Amino acid sequence: MNLAVSLLIATALSLSLPLAGAHRRVLADSPPAPPPQSFAHGSRRNLTYILAPGGRFQTFVMYLQQTGLVEVFEIQAHRTHHGITILVPTDRAFAAIEPSVLSGLKKHQVKSLMMYHALARHYALKEFDALSRVSPVTTFAGGLYTVNVTYDAGAIRVVSSWADAKVVRPVYEMPPMAVYEIDRVLLPDAIFHAQPAVEAIPPSPDGTTPPSDGDATKTPGGKAGGTLDAKSSACRALGRAASYVIAAALCAVAL
Ligand SMILES: *[C@@H]1O[C@H](CO)[C@@H](O)[C@H](O)[C@H]1NC(C)=O
Ligand SMILES: *[C@@H]1O[C@H](CO)[C@@H](O)[C@H](O)[C@H]1NC(C)=O
Repeated sequence: MNLAVSLLIATALSLSLPLAGAHRRVLADSPPAPPPQSFAHGSRRNLTYILAPGGRFQTFVMYLQQTGLVEVFEIQAHRTHHGITILVPTDRAFAAIEPSVLSGLKKHQVKSLMMYHALARHYALKEFDALSRVSPVTTFAGGLYTVNVTYDAGAIRVVSSWADAKVVRPVYEMPPMAVYEIDRVLLPDAIFHAQPAVEAIPPSPDGTTPPSDGDATKTPGGKAGGTLDAKSSACRALGRAASYVIAAALCAVAL
């Protein structure tokens, strides 16, 4: 027997001993923990549930329900290999649009407008950097409905013909569904042939959740502080919906 073979046998022995030990431990212990993917039956697949906390996306949800898109988006997420990314304007963003602009649309146009706020693939926030080099980006509404994405040191904007929206924070980022809050309704020229009447939105994000424990004194209106606060509150919301470990890992990436 030459040296190489004896080395091989020695290595195999030294590997198999601890492995055998581990195997016995697993058999002796209680059943292994479930894989992390199984943490959120039900809520994970439910877009209405994901968009409910805080009641800040009620207009978008109303339009999705009116046009039968809740199910279409959920099916895109779960029955394709690609998943979905949904860019959800806040109620404030919808309120900034002159009411006749949206009430004047036909039902199929409302549907296209809502589908214009989705991409037929799951994109994590960090993938928007690569997405910004694709121009234009086709949305779920089809080839006539494109946006451009810009990515500048983590600041993401989605550009439509008549509006330029900032990605404010992740609402939900777990594959196969990614949901991001944006501060403007995207307005495509495939529907609007001229600039629709849109008000400037007051800069303060949401006065509805004032910090309760002296946070305000630490970040006196600082822009960076505000963004972090917004992110960590989204992360707290995630933590309530998902298992803590997964939410914490996601948030560590996001922050
Ligand atoms: C989705 O969530 C909403 C709001 O929590 C709830 O009313 C609805 O029954 C849920 N749908 C399913 C299919 O679980
Ligand atoms: C996106 O960028 C392309 C050029 O790269 C431009 O032709 C197109 O008009 C832009 N689309 C929007 C919606 O701004």
